[in-house]
Amino acid sequence: MKKIKKALVTGGAGFIGSNLVDALLEAGVQVVVLDNLITGHRSNLAEVLPKITFIEGDIRQRADVEDAADGCDVIFHEAAVVSVPQTVEDPIGSAAVNELGTLTVLDVARMQKTTRVVLASSCALYGDDPVQPKHEGLPARVQSPYALQKLSGEMYARLYCKLYGLETICLRYFNVYGPRQDPSSPYSGVISIFMDHSARQLAPKIYGDGQQSRDFVFVKDVVRANILAATAMAANGQVINIGTGHTVTINQLWETISRLFEITIPPCYESRRPGDIRLSMADVGKAGRTLGFEPAYSFEEGIKETFEWYGRRRNRK
Ligand code: NAD
Ligand code: UD1
Repeated sequence: MKKIKKALVTGGAGFIGSNLVDALLEAGVQVVVLDNLITGHRSNLAEVLPKITFIEGDIRQRADVEDAADGCDVIFHEAAVVSVPQTVEDPIGSAAVNELGTLTVLDVARMQKTTRVVLASSCALYGDDPVQPKHEGLPARVQSPYALQKLSGEMYARLYCKLYGLETICLRYFNVYGPRQDPSSPYSGVISIFMDHSARQLAPKIYGDGQQSRDFVFVKDVVRANILAATAMAANGQVINIGTGHTVTINQLWETISRLFEITIPPCYESRRPGDIRLSMADVGKAGRTLGFEPAYSFEEGIKETFEWYGRRRNRK
């Protein structure tokens, strides 16, 4: 695969997408963003808007995707309903985006002769498989509509690769955190919520006993993995975990974040969320072998950079 010339980032106004846009611009790539701003924000792109083509549109609308993908050699597909509980509440609405929207992106890529599509998939599809760390050879054990929708996207991606020769790579992100993760909804990622609650001296909610654990990976590492996936020859047709191989429990997470903010507020424990996974740790061997990827940020470094960003964000308000 040659150098990327022009790339489409679906969901490019979101948390991961906007960080990816920054890195692509730094690498000299021409960037198009397609986003309907349902959870993303124009402000995430404020500094780069003059340098990119921003299309406010929807991946469920084929014409919007066709416009956005025109002349792009790579598509990074980030747009999705990202919250597990939200897909539990609205399985059909979320499937329209996560399944049919993804199929639309793949089909437009096929018709427009895009070289490669890199899909944002998720470790959620391993479910509560007792095997740890989770490796890509494990069967899917879906326990939420979200996981099933991501699995369907992966299967379509592999089918399009075999049937039509479209290069596809599915990256199974573990729990991503970092600057620009939006804390404003109860559906938001736990680190963003805990940062926001700490800054406002509010007690967080912990669902279940807080002993569930996650493999938290810093957004800049996820961005680097995406760019490697867009260019690595050996990656075509593969599904690859993107995590760190380490875990933190939700209780430990609150302790770490409240220590940074120098507060001592006990959390409120509530019942476990339906569809919630207990243990999640990535086997990152395949990412090393196929992409030459290793996470550069330790949890401590990533949390510190995230903490500083939430501090600056609060000062701006
Ligand atoms: P995000 O909500 O910040 O970004 C998603 C973006 O997609 C938003 O900007 C939103 O406005 C846009 N979008 C949603 N529906 C759309 C539609 N129909 N048409 C066009 N745009 C639409 O979330 P994120 O955390 O940046 O997630 C990016 C991707 O990574 C998603 O596919 C998500 O499932 C996946 N993922 C995220 C994590 C994580 O921990 N954050 C982990 C695994 C996988
Ligand atoms: C997250 C992502 C999902 C991704 C998956 C991969 C978001 C919103 N969701 O889902 O897109 O595919 O990782 O693993 O980014 N929790 C609390 N209190 C809170 C919020 C959460 O205790 O206020 C707990 C949850 O019950 C869960 C854990 O923290 O056990 C993580 O929750 P969350 O950040 O929503 O992530 P996932 O559900 O793992």
